[in-house]
Amino acid sequence: MSPKFDTLAVHAGAEPDPGTGAVAPPLHLSTTFVHAPPGESDDFSYQRADNPTQRRLETALAALEGGERALAFASGMAAVAAVLDTLQHGQRMVVPEDCYVGTRGYVTEVLPERGVDVLTVDTADLDAVRAACNGGITLLWAESPSNPRMRVSDLAELASIAHAHGARFACDNTFATPVLQRPLALGADIVMHSTTKYFGGHSDVLGGALVFARNDDFAERIAARRLLTGAILAPFSAWLTLRGCRSLPARMALHCANARKVAQFLAGHPAIARVNWPGLASHPGHAVAARQMRDFGAMLSVELAGGYDAALAFARGTQIFTHATSLGGCESLIEHRASAEGTHTHAPPALVRLSVGLEDADDLIADLDQALA
Ligand SMILES: Cc1ncc(COP(=O)(O)O)c(C=O)c1O
Repeated sequence: MSPKFDTLAVHAGAEPDPGTGAVAPPLHLSTTFVHAPPGESDDFSYQRADNPTQRRLETALAALEGGERALAFASGMAAVAAVLDTLQHGQRMVVPEDCYVGTRGYVTEVLPERGVDVLTVDTADLDAVRAACNGGITLLWAESPSNPRMRVSDLAELASIAHAHGARFACDNTFATPVLQRPLALGADIVMHSTTKYFGGHSDVLGGALVFARNDDFAERIAARRLLTGAILAPFSAWLTLRGCRSLPARMALHCANARKVAQFLAGHPAIARVNWPGLASHPGHAVAARQMRDFGAMLSVELAGGYDAALAFARGTQIFTHATSLGGCESLIEHRASAEGTHTHAPPALVRLSVGLEDADDLIADLDQALA
C-alpha cells in the first residue's frame, strides 16, 4: 500500500522504537556511538555526521517532498549557504528579485567575494529568466511564493529553463511547505526549507533542510561539507521538528482557511492599497499558483494607502497579531518588513507582512480592523 500524503506526515520517520516499543520517537542525545566490531561498518559514529533522531527527521522530509535524500541543517540559512557554497569562481547564478533578505544578503555579500556572478531577476517573468540564463548559468534559485511580496514563479517552467542550460534548479519552499507545493515533482533538483517556520510550527525551534531529487554525488558533496562545517541540526531540534511534521497537514489546512478570510477582509478595506496573496484572483500569479499549489498559503503582505507611517502604525497597533519577525507558528505575527530587514531590504516602505496563525479568524479580522481604524 502506498500511503497518502497526510498518512506519510504522521508516520514517516516516526515508527515506534524497535528497542523499547515506545510509540513516540525517541530522542538520542549521544554525541558518540560504540564502534562496530572489526570488519563491520559503523551505522552511526559521531553526532556531527549523523544521529538517529536527525536521521528520522530526514526520512520524513524526503518522504514529504518526494526526494531521494534529505539533509537537516542548524538553520534555514545554513541550508541556503550549503547550496550556494558549491558555486565556484567564474560560475553564475540567478536569484529572485524578491526573496528572503538573508538569501539576498548571502548572494550580495559572500558570493561576489568568491568571484561568483549573481544575476538578480524577477523569476515570475520567464522571458527575463531566459535572457539572464543565455550567458550560461550553474544554479537557478527560486522562492515561490516569495518573501515578502508573495510573487509566484512558474516552477515547472523554471526547471526546464535551468535544465536546458545544464544548470541545477533549487526552490525555497518555506512559505508553501510540501503540503501545498512539491517542487521536486515539478522538476526542481533541490528543495530548501527554513524548518523554523511551518515544520516546527510553534516558534520554538530553529532549523533548515535540503531535499534532493536524487541521492547523487552533489547531495553527497553537500553532506560531506556539512560534516566539515558542523552545520548539522541538533538532536532535540530534530525531535521537535519531526513532531511538527506529524501535524503539518492539519495545521496548514487551518492556516490557509484563516488566511483566505483575512485576505478577503483586507482586500475590501479602504486603508489597504494592495493585498499580496496568491489566492486572490487579482494577484498576478494567481493562475500559476492555482496550477502548482494545493492551496495558497497563510503568508500575505499588504501595502497601506497611507504609506510608511500608516504601515508602521498598523504593525504596532494590533493586539492579537504579535508584532514580531518570523512566521509559520500557531500565533499570528505582523511586521513592517523594511524596518526589520535592514540594509539588504527591497521591501516597499508601505508594506506590512502577516503570518496568519491558528486563532479564530473572526478575532483576527476584528484585530486588524481596530488596528486600521
Ligand atoms: C523564505 C525563507 N527562507 C529562508 C529563511 C532563513 O531561515 P532561518 O531563519 O531558519 O535561518 C527564512 C527566514 O525567515 C525565510 O523566510
